[in-house]
Amino acid sequence: GVVAKADSLLALMTLEEKIGQMYQCLGRGHARVGDGEKARDLIELVKAGGVGSILVPGDVHDVEEMQRFAVEESRLGIPLFFNYDVIHGFKTIFPMPLAMSCSWDTALVKRAHRIAAIEASAAGISYNHGPMADVSRDPRWGRVMEGNGEDPFLSSLFTEASVDGFQGDGISHANTIMACVKHFIGYGAVEGGRDYNTVDIGEETLRNIHLPPFQHAIKAGVSSVMTSFNVVGSVPTVAHAPLLRDVLRSELGFEGIVISDFGSVGELIKHGYARDAAQATSQALDGTVDIEMQSRNYHENIKRLVEDGLLDESVIDEAVRRIVIKKYELGLFANPYRFATEKYIDSITLSVPHREIAKETAMKSMVLLKNDGVLPISSKVKRIAILGPFSNSQDILGRWSAKGDTSEAITLLAGMKKQFPEAEINWLNVGDFWENSPLPERKIKDLTRDADLILLAMGEPKEMSAEAASRATLGIPGNQQRIAELALESGNPTVLVLFNGRPLTIPWYQENMNAILEVWFPGTEGGNAIAEVLAGHYNPSGKLTMTFPRDVGQVPLYYNHYSTGRPAASSQYSSKYIDIPNGPLYPFGFGLSYSGFEFSDLIISRDSMKLNEQMEVSVRVTNIGEVFGEEVVQLYLRDYVGEVVRPVKELKGFRKIGLEAGASEKVTFSVTPDMLKYWSPVSRDYIVEPGQFAVMIGANSAEYLEKDFELTN
Ligand code: IFM
Repeated sequence: GVVAKADSLLALMTLEEKIGQMYQCLGRGHARVGDGEKARDLIELVKAGGVGSILVPGDVHDVEEMQRFAVEESRLGIPLFFNYDVIHGFKTIFPMPLAMSCSWDTALVKRAHRIAAIEASAAGISYNHGPMADVSRDPRWGRVMEGNGEDPFLSSLFTEASVDGFQGDGISHANTIMACVKHFIGYGAVEGGRDYNTVDIGEETLRNIHLPPFQHAIKAGVSSVMTSFNVVGSVPTVAHAPLLRDVLRSELGFEGIVISDFGSVGELIKHGYARDAAQATSQALDGTVDIEMQSRNYHENIKRLVEDGLLDESVIDEAVRRIVIKKYELGLFANPYRFATEKYIDSITLSVPHREIAKETAMKSMVLLKNDGVLPISSKVKRIAILGPFSNSQDILGRWSAKGDTSEAITLLAGMKKQFPEAEINWLNVGDFWENSPLPERKIKDLTRDADLILLAMGEPKEMSAEAASRATLGIPGNQQRIAELALESGNPTVLVLFNGRPLTIPWYQENMNAILEVWFPGTEGGNAIAEVLAGHYNPSGKLTMTFPRDVGQVPLYYNHYSTGRPAASSQYSSKYIDIPNGPLYPFGFGLSYSGFEFSDLIISRDSMKLNEQMEVSVRVTNIGEVFGEEVVQLYLRDYVGEVVRPVKELKGFRKIGLEAGASEKVTFSVTPDMLKYWSPVSRDYIVEPGQFAVMIGANSAEYLEKDFELTN
């Protein structure tokens, strides 16, 4: 087996060669390649067996060339990993992950990542830095665009589906890439949403909110785990032996590769946790971190630490064993080039079927936030005006779009022209994201005056989300609201088509627009997808996976908050704001449709169940609209009294159903005691407590039918 092969190889390796496997350096395709090895040095390093993986190689020829140096010219011929951040597609770009999670369709997301893996592996990529499984309740944090929102249950399912998509039937199969779940752990809880900042959460929050998606990734067989940049309990996670050794390795049984994030081993010194690079090295190794990304602390310190007797070589052997096992499992020793060939790339990347699925995914990721009936666009609409910075922009892929090429992206204008060939479409790419610069007011008025419909293509530029893109304000930036005000002066129906990487505070738009369609960063097929939704060819079905606050001052604002002693009420001394309505603008799980759905007849099969029993809960859902539509039926549970205070509700199930106009369906869920389990800081264990519970089924976290039941011993 692979373990025996790895051990035989290990027996032949010098300490230097082992250290090489633990070093990941930047490849020729990386924007910051100058920070690491120069091209020539890199080749020498590869030939000397001094590096085990390359982050962001150049094109497929570069991959082949580097791999050839590794397997033909290094002493032991150990093949390299080629790493990349394949976050929402490789060449064909899908909507950003937070958007895709709004589809509540895990099979679709799996399909998207399967395609990403096919395209990436054709370019020689073998090791992905994704999926991101960080749960976050803070939209100021730019990285929310890379995750699946605020809910641990939903995020767990999407994380698992993502791993399945990247790794297919297993990494030994064709067209797969290794998945690496990141960032372990708590990164989504950075203070103030400031990237890389402190995380200060209790073990109950860590285990009940942040850990579940990682557990699911491991269950799905994820190959690697990346540590995060933050501290947990004042210890940087890259050196957090109790979390890495005891929780990740022992408790969760993770046997794959742990990789540090970019430069984070060296950052132990800046954190004030390590005195010097040697100590930082020992600390990360103590945490079982196998590969150091980008920085060279392992490279420069391990040998001396071993020679001085400060580090046992068996620690290094364990790490290298884990690394080469994955290289064997990938099949790299048998075929170092795997599936990479230029011919293959051309025949499969950005293919028609890939683009079709990108379009489907984009349509299903969109969330209709408001509609007074102006959508779908009626056949009476003859003149359409499109205004705003995204009117005809191809910059709609969003950050982390791998090798995605904006010149391949379909703009809103192009999509609209294709969808409405009979209409007269006028457009103006106006608007500023960063400044409040003056607008061509006359032109805007001329364009909107006689329009039957105005589309405002506005939002955030991609630079405002993802890594190192935290925001302190959450409005639509720059002078864009002024465009909306000018458009409204025409008195003509106006729709906001919102492009963005995070929940934004848009109460003014909710008040003033006729409709709002949240399209996020929709990817390569964006314009076609939006136009089809606006035309009603696809009836929107997306539901928010992150709460939209009214104001940034409410953050963090999330649906599964704890019960308080003074829940928000009309009385003065309750937990609420005095200057704005207390609740969100749009709650978790919210999203409209061109149909309407009525929930009735909530029935529970029993009002009490024992710990070894389960019960059925059903609800009737009726499409009271005039067209076929899909609804996400959501199941929430509440534990009224616990040995610690419990959340007011927690998502525990959902079903996405399609109904013809007038049709109805009975949707049934099983409720099991396992769904009531949580980690209690009193028992210091996962427990299920007998007592009173509520079951809620509805269309979102704020609108539902509800019944109580009891769990008995
Ligand atoms: O994978 C990423 C990580 O999410 C953030 N820092 C850089 C890494 C490599 O690009």
